[in-house]
Amino acid sequence: MTAEIGKSISKAQNLLMNGNIVAIPTETVYGLAANALDPLAVSKIYEAKNRPSFDPLIIHVGKISDFEKYTLNFPKELLAIANKFCPGPLTFLVEKSGIIPEITTSGLKKVAIRIPNHPLTLELLNKLDFPLAAPSANPFGYVSPTTPLHVFEQLGERIPYILDGGPCQVGLESTIIGMEDEKLIVYRKGGLELESLKNLFLGEIIIKDHSSSNPEAPGMLDKHYSPNKRIEILEQKVDLKHIDKDKTGFLLFNKEVEGFDNQFILSANSDLKEAAFRLFDGLRSLDKLPIEKIYIELVPEIGLGLAINDRLRRAAAKS
Ligand code: TXA
Ligand code: MG
Repeated sequence: MTAEIGKSISKAQNLLMNGNIVAIPTETVYGLAANALDPLAVSKIYEAKNRPSFDPLIIHVGKISDFEKYTLNFPKELLAIANKFCPGPLTFLVEKSGIIPEITTSGLKKVAIRIPNHPLTLELLNKLDFPLAAPSANPFGYVSPTTPLHVFEQLGERIPYILDGGPCQVGLESTIIGMEDEKLIVYRKGGLELESLKNLFLGEIIIKDHSSSNPEAPGMLDKHYSPNKRIEILEQKVDLKHIDKDKTGFLLFNKEVEGFDNQFILSANSDLKEAAFRLFDGLRSLDKLPIEKIYIELVPEIGLGLAINDRLRRAAAKS
């Protein structure tokens, strides 16, 4: 099989209605989608991604009224946030309803649900009478795809169709939130900034985004989003004079380092939104070069910078 890349919503719709997997665009990253209510279709996602079955999937719906069908006791605090930010780069981890099969949530009682903000995918979702389970469309543990070509290069042999919605405008996965004991929990930092949540939720906000093996918290394995090359955070103490120019690449925030060829600048204007948009493309481009090591520079720890640095640290994590 070799994936076709195209813009046909009806083609994607037909494939999905017949139990196939299809790559879909979202504003965050491309997803590898299947009918979330069909266990056999969902199993094809795990197989294509090589994803361990203990790592649950996010389901995607087209409108807020769909939340009622697939979740139970959706907290009113989260509903207020949903009304403000959906569709958008935000996922809710809430109690699941009985029609979501076990395989979709890896046997967990909660389901992650979101409304992606992409015109093609919203139209597709609103034509289907089932939600789409969709993890990022990359082999497990690797960098998420933000263009159709990224998907094609890694999973092109395993999926029939990639719905082409252009490059993902946000470029970072969704922020995942839920409620525990009246506190708002952030399970994954992502495309929606924490500041936005603080304006809407006045209670306590807790960040719980680390898990070393078992994703009781959303699969936030310390090592994730990781290229194949050796990755190291670029710190002041690194002595550039002793680095082999031909074997080394740099992913930098806003300016080049002197004397090296393989450099990728995230945003010459120091714009964190642009940096997020370019991040995964930068990691992938450097990973393709005939080098051995990539130094990555952290960005300012504010706004989207929190999520960008989270991904950079995980990319550099040893295990
Ligand atoms: O932006 C996004 O969220 C993208 C696009 C395609 O929507 N999707 C995405 O999915 O990033 P994925 O599977 O790559 O990351 C979802 C994370 C995983 O770490 C998974 O463990 C966690 O969410 N997760 C999903 N359902 C969960 C559940 N029921 N309980 C705990 N964690 C869950
Ligand atoms: Mg992923």
